[in-house]
Order: sequence, then C-alpha cells, then structure tokens
Amino acid sequence: MRRVLLTGGDGQLGWEVARRAAAAGVLCRAAGRADLDITDRDAVRRMVGETDWSAVINAAAYTAVDRAETDAAAAYAVNRDGPAHLAGACAEAGVPLLHVSTDYVFDGSKAAPYREDDPVAPLGVYGASKLAGEEAVRSLCAQHIILRTAWVYGVHGHNFVKTMLRLGRERDRLRVVDDQRGCPTAAGDLADVLLTLAGRLGAGQAPESAFGTFHATGQGDTSWCGFARHIFALAESRLERIPAVDPITTADFPTPARRPANSVLDCDRLARVHGLRLRPWKDALAETLNSLLPPQPLPG
Ligand SMILES: NC(=O)c1ccc[n+]([C@@H]2O[C@H](COP(=O)([O-])OP(=O)(O)OC[C@H]3O[C@@H](n4cnc5c(N)ncnc54)[C@H](OP(=O)(O)O)[C@@H]3O)[C@@H](O)[C@H]2O)c1
Repeated sequence: MRRVLLTGGDGQLGWEVARRAAAAGVLCRAAGRADLDITDRDAVRRMVGETDWSAVINAAAYTAVDRAETDAAAAYAVNRDGPAHLAGACAEAGVPLLHVSTDYVFDGSKAAPYREDDPVAPLGVYGASKLAGEEAVRSLCAQHIILRTAWVYGVHGHNFVKTMLRLGRERDRLRVVDDQRGCPTAAGDLADVLLTLAGRLGAGQAPESAFGTFHATGQGDTSWCGFARHIFALAESRLERIPAVDPITTADFPTPARRPANSVLDCDRLARVHGLRLRPWKDALAETLNSLLPPQPLPG
C-alpha cells in the first residue's frame, strides 16, 4: 500500500482526501494544522523525511480571500512559504509533491476558459500569495503536480452550498452575484483525483509528462446565482421553504478583495495526460446535498 503524507487534513478538501484514502488503496497520514504547521520549515523537513512517502499532498492553505487583503504576511507565510518548505523537503527526499492552487491566479478578463499556460495576473493578496506558492513549488521540486481548482464545496467545513442552505432557512429572498462565472467543484471528487495521482506517481516511474500544472474542476460552468438556484431546485422537496434568488452584480456586493469575472478553467490537459475528468458539477452537487440534507420524502 502506498503511504502518502497529507497536510491540511482538517480542511474541507483534506478531510475528503483522508476519508477516501483507504478506498483508493492509499495509507494516508493526515496531518492537521496541530500536527504539522507548514510554515515551520524544520517540522516540515522532519515529517517529510520521517519515512519513505510515495507522495506528499498539500491541502493546507490560507483561504480567507477577503481577510488576506489586510493580513498579507499571514497569507504569504502559509500560501508561499509553506509550499516552499514542502517543495524543498520533497526534493531532498525524492518524493513527488501534489500541491493545490486556485483559479484566483487569473484576473478573469479572458473571454474563454483558462488554460494552464494562460498569463496569470491575480487581483488580490490571496491569489498573489497562491501564485507565489506555485512558483516556489515549480522552482524547488521537479517532481510536482500543481492542481488548480475553483469554487470548492463539500460536506465538511465552510462553503457556498452550506451558506446558501443556512441563509435559505433564515430569509425569504437572497441576492446573489450573477456576473462571476466558474465551475463548482465537489471536494470529494477533487480528493479522488489527488489520490489517484498520488498512487500513480508513487510508483517512482512516472514519465516527465505526468508532472506540471493542471486544471481540475467540476464539468460545466455557472454563475454564483445559477449555483444558488440549482442548490434550491435540488433541495426543494427537503427544505421547509425555498427563498427567491435575485441576481445582482459584483458592484452591488462590494467585498475587500476583487474577484475574477471569469473563473472557468479548461481541464482538458488533465484528461489528456492522466485520463482524469471530474463529473458534471450538477451531478456532484446532487450527491453532496444528499449528505447534507434529510432524505427525500417517499412518493405517496
Ligand atoms: N475553497 C475554495 O473554493 C477553493 C477554490 C480554489 C482553490 N482552493 C484551494 O484548495 C485547497 C484546499 O482548500 P479548502 O477549501 O480545503 O480550504 P480550507 O477548508 O480552508 O482548508 C485549509 C486547511 O489548511 C489549514 N491550515 C492553515 N494554515 C496552516 C498551516 N500553517 N499549516 C497547516 N495547515 C494550515 C487550515 O487550518 P485552519 O482552519 O486552522 O486555518 C485548514 O484546515 C487550498 O489550496 C485552496 O487554496 C480552494
């Protein structure tokens, strides 16, 4: 069985990686922040060097996009320095590193889905700190996979789906941004991709083409408003009431951090090189809602 070290094991993505590992034939040492602070270079070195890991998966990150605008030092410590420590330690130990990054490295001005080699131009501190993390990983560890994802939600942790369900219980009408587009991504589906890749890379015979930067999101795209409406359409029979969802513009809902208008990622490279593609986002959302909500009432 392959042994994989996972950082950020308590986050929404890390939690899914940890709970799915055994089914993927992977023995996962899931390190939460209390077990491994990735900003601590010596601790990272010690844990990466502890045993002959098949791969390291970095799911730890500073993800508070708006707070990062006034907390840049902390964001850079986790999103740039942490991956740099991991990449250095992995290179030293000869272990492949799978690192997770974000659509927010782009400014969203492209009229088509973003490809891996499109120019990056983050709009805020979070995106810039994640981009710095990508650059560190690329320069320090040749055996890396950077998976850029977007609009992640799951059963565990805070996310848009859970926020909509909560607000829907509290209010009759919701106003949701309709001029930002992206690809909702189930944390569990992304976790499966990470585990599959970790299993393959761990064989130690992966060709050079297996490494590099890849996009990985659910298939299809929507706006936040479209996402919210679909959540309530799927949940309708299981909620006491359904709020009206009104479209608004980004300008109607100012936030400290600017966000890309187009966050849609082209995931063809992951399919071409690794034969992996996530499900259509609506299918994955239906499954997650089945875990979050009481069962459908039986007909009749
Ligand atoms: N969520 C999204 O919509 C989204 C979109 C695009 C990309 N991503 C990327 O996907 C990855 C996973 O994100 P997620 O949604 O699972 O985020 P998350 O739920 O916030 O999980 C991140 C985890 O990292 C931990 N962490 C923070 N600082 C750490 C440190 N110094 N050392 C070790 N662990 C630390 C956090 O612990 P605390 O809770 O204690 O801080 C948290 O458990 C990240 O790389 C993120 O940038 C996410």
